[in-house]
Amino acid sequence: MHQDLLTIEEVTKQDLYEIIKLAAVYKRSRGTMKEKPLDGKSIGMIFAKSSTRTRVSFEVGIRELGGFSIFLEESKLQVGRGETIPDTARVLSRYLHAVIIRTYKHEEVVEFAKYAHIPVINALTDEYHPCQTLADIFTIYEFSEKLEGIKIAYLGDGQSNMANSLILGAKLAGMELTICAPEEFKPRQDLMGKSLGTGSAVWEIDPKKAVAQADYIYTDVWVSMGFEEEAKKRVKMLTPYQVNMELLSAAGPETRILHCLPAHRGEEITDDVLESKRSIVFDEAENRLHVQKAILALMLGEKN
Ligand code: CP
Ligand code: NVA
Repeated sequence: MHQDLLTIEEVTKQDLYEIIKLAAVYKRSRGTMKEKPLDGKSIGMIFAKSSTRTRVSFEVGIRELGGFSIFLEESKLQVGRGETIPDTARVLSRYLHAVIIRTYKHEEVVEFAKYAHIPVINALTDEYHPCQTLADIFTIYEFSEKLEGIKIAYLGDGQSNMANSLILGAKLAGMELTICAPEEFKPRQDLMGKSLGTGSAVWEIDPKKAVAQADYIYTDVWVSMGFEEEAKKRVKMLTPYQVNMELLSAAGPETRILHCLPAHRGEEITDDVLESKRSIVFDEAENRLHVQKAILALMLGEKN
C-alpha cells in the first residue's frame, strides 16, 4: 500500500482486494489470532472532532494487533495553540510509527503527511472519509459477494466527506453510484470526472428515480461536523431527500440501507427505515474495526 491513506485515490484495486481479504480473516478469527503485526508499534491519534466509531474501532483494533495507541485531543496539543503542522509532524515522527488524524481542513492532513516520516491515515476531514468508505465497500462485498456492477444511490449532501469518498470508492471498486442531491448540494465535478477504475458516478435530482434500480441506498447527516452554521438552510433544502418508507417503496424489495452513522433520526433517515430488516448499518459500523485492522496491518505490518 501507499505510505499514507489520505483519500481513496491512494488505494489501488489490488490494495482494495487485499484489504477485503484480510478484513474477512480478521472478522472470522477475532480473538484467536496469534499474529501481532503491530507488535512494538505506537500509533498517535490526533482528533479535533468528536468520534465514537472511528476512535473506538481504531483503538481496539490497534490493541488487538499488538500495538499501542495514544489518543491526542488536538486542542490539548501545542498545535492547538499555534505550533506549526510541519514542526508537529516532524517531532511526532521521532516517537510514533504512524499517525491517525481527524480534523477540519483536508489540507492540514496533506501538510502533516508531507512533513511526517511515518504513515498518516485520514480518519475524516471536511472533504474525505476514506476509512468509512473502505468499510462500506467491504460490507457491500460481504452482502452481495461482488462489487462490479453494484448500484448504490446516495441521498443528501452531495458534497459531504462521505459523498466525496463514495464517488472515489465506487469508481475504484467498479460500482455504479448515483448521487441524489439538489443543485446546491450537487456532487463535485472534479471528483465526478476522475477515472480510477471501472465504476461510475452520476448526479440525479429525483430521489425516486435514483433509488429505482439501487442495490443499496446510502445516506449521511445533512449537517456534517463543522457545518452547524448552515443547519437551517441544509435541513430545508435536503428534506425532499429523506430516506423514508415511501422512498423505499420506490426501490426493489432486496434494496439494503447503509448509513455511516451517527444518524439524525427523523432528518436524513426515519426510525422505521433505520430499524427495518433492510438496514445493515450495524454490520457496517462493526466492519470499521475489521477493515481498519486490515489497513493497519497492510500499511505497518512486518512485510512493509
Ligand atoms: N462513521 C464515523 O466515522 O463515526 P464516528 O464519527 O463516530 O467516528
Ligand atoms: N459527514 C459526517 C460524517 C460523520 C461520520 C460528518 O462529517 O459529520
